[in-house]
Amino acid sequence: MKTYSIAVIGGDGTGPEVVREGVKVLNAAAARHGFKLALTDYDFGGARYLKTGEALPATAVEEMKKHAAIFLGAIGHPDVKPGILEKGILLKLRFELDQYINLRPVKLFPGVETPIKDKGPAEIDYVVVRENSGDLYTGVGGISMKGTPNEVAMQVMVYNRFQVERCLRYAFEYARKRNKAKTLGLVGKTNVLTFVYDLWERAFHEIGAKDYPEIKRDYYHVDACCMWMVKNPEWFDVLVTGNMFGDIITDLGAMTQGGMGIAAGGNINPEGVSMFEPIGGSAPKYTGKNVINPLAAICAGAMMLDALGETKAARAVEAAVADVTANKLKSLAAGRMGCSTSQVGDLVAERV
Ligand code: IPM
Ligand code: MN
Repeated sequence: MKTYSIAVIGGDGTGPEVVREGVKVLNAAAARHGFKLALTDYDFGGARYLKTGEALPATAVEEMKKHAAIFLGAIGHPDVKPGILEKGILLKLRFELDQYINLRPVKLFPGVETPIKDKGPAEIDYVVVRENSGDLYTGVGGISMKGTPNEVAMQVMVYNRFQVERCLRYAFEYARKRNKAKTLGLVGKTNVLTFVYDLWERAFHEIGAKDYPEIKRDYYHVDACCMWMVKNPEWFDVLVTGNMFGDIITDLGAMTQGGMGIAAGGNINPEGVSMFEPIGGSAPKYTGKNVINPLAAICAGAMMLDALGETKAARAVEAAVADVTANKLKSLAAGRMGCSTSQVGDLVAERV
């Protein structure tokens, strides 16, 4: 029987609780679809950092490379200064494992309330391909004359052609494979960021015209894109953008699909080890209460199955989630689901 080795990082806050339900569903899918998961838990997160003073042990990255994929809960601890765990764990893994794509579907499941009036699952169903290795996230920059009135701070938007090109190719391939409207929209800011998004735009049209002639190419300035995500989400099929804009617009996208309780993402290295996570945070105030919504983690698990090649199992998990949102949950908000965290996991696992 095919066995996949999976690293499980519950992480901080409600991370371990949602990951537990994700694992429950993954195991149900494995049993039903004829494969096995060999799970190894890792205690990376705020509690470990507070105890040991290191965000990630020196061997962590090499250790992660031994697995087929990583299943992550959440990183972020109220007693640790913002930035330390995010940079030291989450971004470090994304960068060191070269997970250069952050794939974030924006999909409204049936029965889920969206704040967008008159739009439903037929209108809200697209995918954002967020570049995940460059941009303002590289840490290039600095501060000089700190603490003086002349202080200067710089944080540089960095992209090279190689990074842009591999991301665009992934997005074109994705639009081709998705086979919905065969449309890829580039989200940029060519009217102001005339260096970085000029590079993106030229590469986009060159690659598209040469290698993906059947994929229609659209372009949106990021600010306008935010308007259309609210007003006309049905225009979108696949969107591709840089790391910073991708971070921002996918939180907006998440709200339109029913909030952080359901929004999942995959940090993907198509040639290496990928990491799947709910895109919401560690929600410290709900920790240990069995009220947090585990569906985002469960959907991240479905994305992981898809990436592992277990497509049928992935579809089965998605269908089970859709049945639960359509028929069982009162709301997707923590504490208002009409079910506990573990009951939601049970409902999805039973259906799988
Ligand atoms: C996300 C998060 C991270 C990011 C933070 C926690 C570093 O907001 O996954 O979207 O900015 O990428
Ligand atoms: Mn974010």
